[in-house]
Amino acid sequence: MRLRSGKRQKADDRPEAPATTPGPAVELRGVRRQYGRGAGTVHALAGVDLALPRGTFTAVMGPSGSGKSTFLQCAAGLDRPSAGSVRLGGTEITGMSENHLTELRRSRLGFVFQAFNLLPSLTVEQNVLLPLRLAGQRQDRGRAAAVLARVGLADKARRRPGELSGGQQQRVAVARALVTSPDVIFADEPTGALDTNTAAEILGLLRHAVDTLGATVVMVTHDPAAAAWADRVLFLADGAFAGGLERGSAERIAARMATLAGRTGVMAGVAA
Ligand SMILES: Nc1ncnc2c1ncn2[C@@H]1O[C@H](COP(=O)(O)OP(=O)(O)O)[C@@H](O)[C@H]1O
Ligand SMILES: [Mg+2]
Repeated sequence: MRLRSGKRQKADDRPEAPATTPGPAVELRGVRRQYGRGAGTVHALAGVDLALPRGTFTAVMGPSGSGKSTFLQCAAGLDRPSAGSVRLGGTEITGMSENHLTELRRSRLGFVFQAFNLLPSLTVEQNVLLPLRLAGQRQDRGRAAAVLARVGLADKARRRPGELSGGQQQRVAVARALVTSPDVIFADEPTGALDTNTAAEILGLLRHAVDTLGATVVMVTHDPAAAAWADRVLFLADGAFAGGLERGSAERIAARMATLAGRTGVMAGVAA
């Protein structure tokens, strides 16, 4: 990437990055999540093993009902697996108390959602500083200014979300996700509510965060064009990972999805 001017070194750019903890950013071992009991049991995750290295951008795709949301929720400590273990930034979260989990999510994870999820009554700057406020850390306005500049919104700090376009609001959400230098940023259909060009801008910001800040991004999407920005695409089918693609084009990703849908659908007889 030649976007960096060289004025600042990488290490200066991420003073609070938790790069010292060893191991992958995200690690799932034998993770299962079932809903219900007896004959009606749904195996939303049927034994997932996964290790995502730091500084990588992973997209998770799969047909509707394949377990994408359940995966994201279990991986991000928002839901508890029925079995197996989850480690985030080297920390085992299985069995952690609810309070401790909440604290970990606030201080060490970033989230970007389809619906932006900004607080309308707060300014852009206050929204960006919210994770620090909730985590009981110093609300460093210089830091807010730096992440806002990163997402191209240096001049919008005093605006409210309602005064911004959808794409700008999602930029604020990306800035908010970056402000704590989290171990992992989880993105759930981050471009689902945006037009194609605006979507590409948001994906470019996530890509840039990975390439220049060493951020780790895990994104659930149904859009092959969005997934093509990732280093690796993982495909979920019936609650289990069914292969992956490294640096796939949107066309290759779409073709793999079509194959998967054929396999998991009504025995459509699609050749692998
Ligand atoms: N709270 C729930 N109660 C019962 N079944 C659920 C619940 N959440 C998800 N499921 C089921 O688990 C499976 C996976 O769901 P989900 O993770 O939402 O898939 P996706 O996000 O890929 O569409 C589906 O069969 C879904 O119906
Ligand atoms: Mg879902």
